[in-house]
Amino acid sequence: MAVVDSDAVRARAAAASAAERVAERTDLDEDRRDEICARLEGVAADLWRALRQVYGGTHDIGELFDRLVELAVAAAAVRPARLRRLDRRREIDQAWFLRERMIGYVCYADRFAGRLGEVADHLDYLGELGVTYLHLMPLLSAREGENDGGYAVADYREVDPRLGRLADLTALSQDLHARGMSLCVDVVLNHTAREHAWARAAMAGDETYRRFYHVFADRRLPDAYSTTLWEVFPDTAPGSFSCVEEMGGWVWTTFHDYQWDLNWANPDVLAAMSETILFLANAGVDVFRLDAVPFLWKRIGTDCQNQPEAHALLQALRAVLRVAAPAVVFKAEAIVAPDQLVPYLGAHQTYVPECDLAYHNQLMVMLWSSLASRDVRLMTQSLRRMTPPPQQTSWVTYVRCHDDIGWAVSDADAHAVGLDPRAHRRFLVDFFAGRHPGSFARGALFQENPVTGDARTCGAAAALTGIELAMRQGDAAGLQAGIRRLLLLYSVTYSFGGIPLVYSGDELGLGNDTSYLADPGLAEDNRWMHRPFMDWERAGRRHLEGSVEGRIFAGLVQMGQARRDLPALRGGGVSEALWTDDPHVFAYHRKHPASGDFLALANFSDDPQSCHTSVLAAAGVPEPQTALSSDGPVSIAGDRVLLEPWGFVWLTPRPG
Ligand code: GLC
Repeated sequence: MAVVDSDAVRARAAAASAAERVAERTDLDEDRRDEICARLEGVAADLWRALRQVYGGTHDIGELFDRLVELAVAAAAVRPARLRRLDRRREIDQAWFLRERMIGYVCYADRFAGRLGEVADHLDYLGELGVTYLHLMPLLSAREGENDGGYAVADYREVDPRLGRLADLTALSQDLHARGMSLCVDVVLNHTAREHAWARAAMAGDETYRRFYHVFADRRLPDAYSTTLWEVFPDTAPGSFSCVEEMGGWVWTTFHDYQWDLNWANPDVLAAMSETILFLANAGVDVFRLDAVPFLWKRIGTDCQNQPEAHALLQALRAVLRVAAPAVVFKAEAIVAPDQLVPYLGAHQTYVPECDLAYHNQLMVMLWSSLASRDVRLMTQSLRRMTPPPQQTSWVTYVRCHDDIGWAVSDADAHAVGLDPRAHRRFLVDFFAGRHPGSFARGALFQENPVTGDARTCGAAAALTGIELAMRQGDAAGLQAGIRRLLLLYSVTYSFGGIPLVYSGDELGLGNDTSYLADPGLAEDNRWMHRPFMDWERAGRRHLEGSVEGRIFAGLVQMGQARRDLPALRGGGVSEALWTDDPHVFAYHRKHPASGDFLALANFSDDPQSCHTSVLAAAGVPEPQTALSSDGPVSIAGDRVLLEPWGFVWLTPRPG
C-alpha cells in the first residue's frame, strides 16, 4: 500500500489552483505564464511543508500559500527583461555561483568609493583582482545616528540617502552584470530599526503593526526567556529586552535597543519580508546576505537560536523567491556552532532547499587559532568533524569580515587534541590583542564579559598578521613574515571549496583605522577599527614591485588565476582536512565529481617544516604537479614534503 504524504497532496492541489489563476492573467504572455507555473510546481511542496511546520497549528495554510504565491506572481510580472534573461541562464546553469571563477569582494560603498553611484568607477580595479561577486555592506536606508553599521534599517525599499538612491543600485547591478559580476546585498530579517514605518505605526497604537514585534506588558516573560538567552553585546547593549514607553512595555531587542526583533509567528511578517525580498530582487540583487538568521524564532527555555521554525521560514522565503526570480540565491549569516551551521544549507534529515551559501565561520576561526598557536591539530580535528554541505550549495570562505572574531572553539574538539578550551580561548584573545609575549598581532578586545571572562577580537587582517607592527617598526623580516602569513590564510580560503571573499583593504595590507573614534555614532563600537576607508593612494602602489601592496595584491591575483584553472575548487565537491605527521602542516584534500583530486599543504609556523609523503597518496596525488605555491615547485626529499616558513603549495595529479 502506498503511503500518502498529505502535505504533498495538498501542495499539489494548491499549486494547481494557483496555476489556474496564473493562466487567467492577460498581462503575461503564454511563455511567461508557463514558466511561472513550472516554477510553482517545483517549489509548491517545499513551500507548503514549511508553512505547515511554522503556522500549521495557528493559521489557515491554504490561504497563506495563496497569498505568498500572489506576491511572487506579481513580482514575476514586473521583473525587468534583463533580469529575466539572467533567470533563464541560471535556471539552465544552476551551479553558476559554485564555479571556480567566483571570487568575492566585500566593502562599504561609502568607504570604498564615496557614494554608491561611484562604485562603478572602480570595477576595473576589482576586475584586476579577479572579482566576480561584490558584496556591498548594508546600504538600505538606516536610522540616523547609531545604526549598527547599517543593520538598523528604517526603510527596506530605499537606499540610504547618505549613499545614494535606489536607481544607483539598479545602475550598478547593470554594470556588474555586463562584466559577468554579481551583486550581494544585506537584508536584515530579524529586526527593523525602531524608526521603521512598522515600528512607528506600532508606537502610534496600530494593533496590526504592534503584532509585528514581540511586546510584553511586564517583565514576567522577558525574565523567563532571559534565563537561557545569550547576550550578543554584553558590554554595550546588555539584556535582550528594552522598555519602550510608547509601547507600554518591553520589546524584544536581541541586539541594540533601537533594533526591534520581528515576530515571525505572525504570518504578516513573512508576507511583508517576502515582498521586500522580491522588490530588491527586481532591483537587480543577485545574492541576499540574510543577516542574523539563527535568531528568527523564539522558544522559551532555549537560547532562541537555530529553532526548526527559523529553518522552515528560510525555506518558505526561498520557495517564494524562486517563483519570481530564480536567478537569485540566499547566503546565510549564521555564526553558530558547526553542527548547527550546515542545516542552513538545507542539510536536514533529507536535503530541503534553504540557503545556497553560508559563511564558513569555523574555518575562519580555526585559521586564526592556528596562526597564533602555530599548530593545526585543533583546526584539523574540528573541520574533520563537520558534515559537508549539500552538493547544490557551498560555503563562502573568508579571512576577515566587518565583525569581530568570536572564539568558537568547541570544548570537545579542544579536549580531543589535548587543549584546555578556556585557556586556549583566553590565549587567542590575548595573542591577537598583542598582550601575549612575542605576539606579532595588534588587535583589540571586543565585548569583554566580566562575568564569564569571555572576549572577542577586533582588528584588520594586516594588524592581526603582524604586517602593521612590522611596518611601524621598519622591520623588514617581520614584514616579510606578516605578508606570508596573510597570503597563507588567503591561500586556504581560495582553495578550500566555496566562494572566497576578499575583505576590502586586505588586498593592500591596510591596517587598523582609528578614525571612527572621532565619530560619536561609531566610537562605542571598535569593530569600526577594521572597517577601513579605501586608501586609493596605496592602491596606486599595487603595481610597484617589492611594495607591500604589490606583494599582497599580486599574490591574490595569482591565487585567483590558479583557482580559475582548477575545477576541483568549484563548490559542490568535498573538502576533507587530513592528518599529517607534522602538527604545523595543514593538509586538505578536495574532490569534485567532475574533476580530479586536489591537495593543499600549508605550513603554519615560523620554521621550515616537512610532512610524510604518505599524505600525497592519501589525497590521490602520489605524483604531484604544482598548481600554485608560495615558493616554487613542490619540494620533496626522500619521503618528506618540504615547506618554507608560512609557505603553502597546491597540488594536482601529474597528467599521466
Ligand atoms: C550581524 C551583522 C552584525 C550586526 C548584527 C545585528 O551579525 O554581521 O554586524 O551587528 O547582525 O544586525
